[in-house]
Amino acid sequence: MREVGFAVGRTSTKWITVRLEDEVLLNDLVKVGDKLLGVVRSVSYANPTMSPYSPFTPTNIESVRAYEYLNANIELYGTVEGGKFDPRVLTAIPTGTPVYLIEEGDLEGLSFIENPIFIGEHPTSKWPLPLDPRAIDYHLAVVGSTGSGKSHLVRLLVKELVRVGRKVVIFDHTGADYAPYFRDHVIPDSNVFPDLLSLAEVLANKVLGKEYLDDIEVALYAYLFSNGEYETARMFMESLGFGNRDPDMGPILELMRISPKDVKWDDKSFASILRMVMGYLKRKEHTIAKSLFRLVRSGISMKSFNGREYDIEKLVDHIIDSELTVLDISSETLPIRYGIMRGVISGIMERAESKGKRMDITIVVDEAQVYARGQPPTESLSDVARRGRKWGIGLILASQRWVSDLDMNIRANINSVLFSSLQSSSDIDDIGKVVNIGNIDVGVLGTGDFYITGLLSPFRRPILIHTFGDLDE
Ligand SMILES: Nc1ncnc2c1ncn2[C@@H]1O[C@H](COP(=O)(O)OP(=O)(O)OP(=O)(O)O)[C@@H](O)[C@H]1O
Ligand SMILES: [Mg+2]
Repeated sequence: MREVGFAVGRTSTKWITVRLEDEVLLNDLVKVGDKLLGVVRSVSYANPTMSPYSPFTPTNIESVRAYEYLNANIELYGTVEGGKFDPRVLTAIPTGTPVYLIEEGDLEGLSFIENPIFIGEHPTSKWPLPLDPRAIDYHLAVVGSTGSGKSHLVRLLVKELVRVGRKVVIFDHTGADYAPYFRDHVIPDSNVFPDLLSLAEVLANKVLGKEYLDDIEVALYAYLFSNGEYETARMFMESLGFGNRDPDMGPILELMRISPKDVKWDDKSFASILRMVMGYLKRKEHTIAKSLFRLVRSGISMKSFNGREYDIEKLVDHIIDSELTVLDISSETLPIRYGIMRGVISGIMERAESKGKRMDITIVVDEAQVYARGQPPTESLSDVARRGRKWGIGLILASQRWVSDLDMNIRANINSVLFSSLQSSSDIDDIGKVVNIGNIDVGVLGTGDFYITGLLSPFRRPILIHTFGDLDE
């Protein structure tokens, strides 16, 4: 620690002005007197003889330099007492109080939180910032323009959360951001049987047209019940009350016990059953013919769904029993990814509620713009944002923009935001609506520089970190 100046002017419990005798930089940490901790938010030169309103016009610049002084504005973070940090300042300090620059090693040994996690260090003091993993239950967003280092930061977070015993499930949208880093924990979407509704949506959107969603969904259920056997499928349809038969609830109830991953999917049998179902639904003959023709021409093969190890149910079991699961959702079509995400997230919530116990699971969604606003999984993500805390289910969402990428209901329930340089300048004001951002300067942030704001910040006020370059640091 080294003395750099003293407090001047009017001091408060939030801000002080410091007359500098030595240089400090933006975001430097300082100690004020022997108790208060703060951060440099701005630095400015002043010279009374150079005031725009001064009648005195200096002719020789050198002669008035002597009147020049340097002020720094310090935002106070809190109080250090008895080796502990408390994020409150209860009384102002007198003017003249000395101010010291915090240097490497100065904050070591100071206790902030129990069992902290670490993802980076404060740039000038090199102090590894201790973070409270419990803040993740209150949800977290990582925002920054492309290449700012979001995915890297989330990988560091994941490693640390796993280290302190928190379970993590990652939805890897690209298959390149997480799967290669956590190889032993990857489940590819091609090994997951999607829920039948999502599958029906894919077939309807890609092949027949949205108006045939019902036909396809019913055909899938008839196939599931009959294992592709035509006469059994017919019996299933009749038990639903088609073909002038009295409805019988038996087959429907039995359907709940069959997992689609245990059924043998065959294109020819599916086409015949779809044809039968469309007949029962009173589709015109030429519509049926056109549909079958399109199905065959689409190139979508039901066979590709054979031999998948997981259905949604089994996947949720696996996630709950594993320290880390990376779902590589980069190969399936979007509706199937949506279905997997929606099913897994609501499955985890349902398990927590039915068992009535905390899950201690963190759900990570990178490239959140694809999922977290106006898309099928958005509702289940909002539900976790709203009610997940009670069950120890936290969200980490990463995307380039704040307002346009994340649903309003999700944003309103996020309590920590980590942000780097922003793509949209209005985002910073909007982030200020959910966490305290004070008057920080985001102009000069490079790759790996992030402000930590909200609950995750040990100070409850923004602090700049540079993320560790190496995942194993
Ligand atoms: N602290 C760091 N030190 C060194 N390299 C870093 C650091 N943080 C990120 N990088 C590197 O910067 C590059 C971009 O990082 P990353 O992929 O995490 O960005 P991103 O914000 O996720 O971008 P996008 O929005 O395009 O997904 C990567 O090569 C990454 O390894
Ligand atoms: Mg990324």
